[in-house]
Amino acid sequence: MKNPIGIFDSGIGGISILKKLKQLLPNENFIYLADNRNCPYGSKSKKEIISLSKKNCKKLIELNCKIIIIACNTSTTNSIKKLREIIDIPIIGIEPGLKPAIHYTKTKNIGILATEKTLGSKLFFETLNHNRIDDIHIHEQIGYELVNLIEEGSHPKQNIQEILEKYLVPMINKKIDCLLLGCTHYNHIKDIIKEVIPGHIKIVDTIAPVNKRILSILKSNNILNKYTHKRTIKIFYNGKKLSSNYLDQEYDLRYLEF
Ligand code: DGL
Repeated sequence: MKNPIGIFDSGIGGISILKKLKQLLPNENFIYLADNRNCPYGSKSKKEIISLSKKNCKKLIELNCKIIIIACNTSTTNSIKKLREIIDIPIIGIEPGLKPAIHYTKTKNIGILATEKTLGSKLFFETLNHNRIDDIHIHEQIGYELVNLIEEGSHPKQNIQEILEKYLVPMINKKIDCLLLGCTHYNHIKDIIKEVIPGHIKIVDTIAPVNKRILSILKSNNILNKYTHKRTIKIFYNGKKLSSNYLDQEYDLRYLEF
């Protein structure tokens, strides 16, 4: 099926998912919506996040997408259940990788950096309780200003580094041995995070398992693109022009009202 794969995020964060997904699926066409006029989602109410997520899905369906990827932890944890009730095409979301972290930890201390609304969501709470092992401690930290700085793209590295130290040093002192990146925007600053945390702390993101799941859903629904023509990857934004720091030559970047 030639129809594009639809992806959305509040901005540039989900590009980190797309970057790997486009390599995994070289025949597929993609449409990415960066709802950066409404960024950040992480401090909005659940009601607002659901309404924005519905709007994005509606646009992707209008643009003939065959599947929707929510490349945003905040939208997934707050809206995926509602979206699945009203949308007929497959929807795949991304959530903080609690399960792999729980399996990995030896010090029984896990750090998680995510948005306010991801950490406060019912879905995150349920996943935590479902996988909870009594002697494992989860150290949560809201990433507050990080999303806005990453969106701007022009952030001085030292500024981000100082913020990360403020957030991560308390967790390091609690002897975490893995750190969950619970917001797709943070994947863009992984190198700076690596400089702030000691080398033995594993960074857990869920890009690879989510992309594997997308491939498997495309296969099981028999909607993979079998045509080998030159594919297109369209990125639409509805606010300020996206920072070119995170964009590839292959992307066709345009403004769109949605
Ligand atoms: N990239 C997003 C996430 O994974 C959204 C961040 C935001 O808009 O606050 O949560």
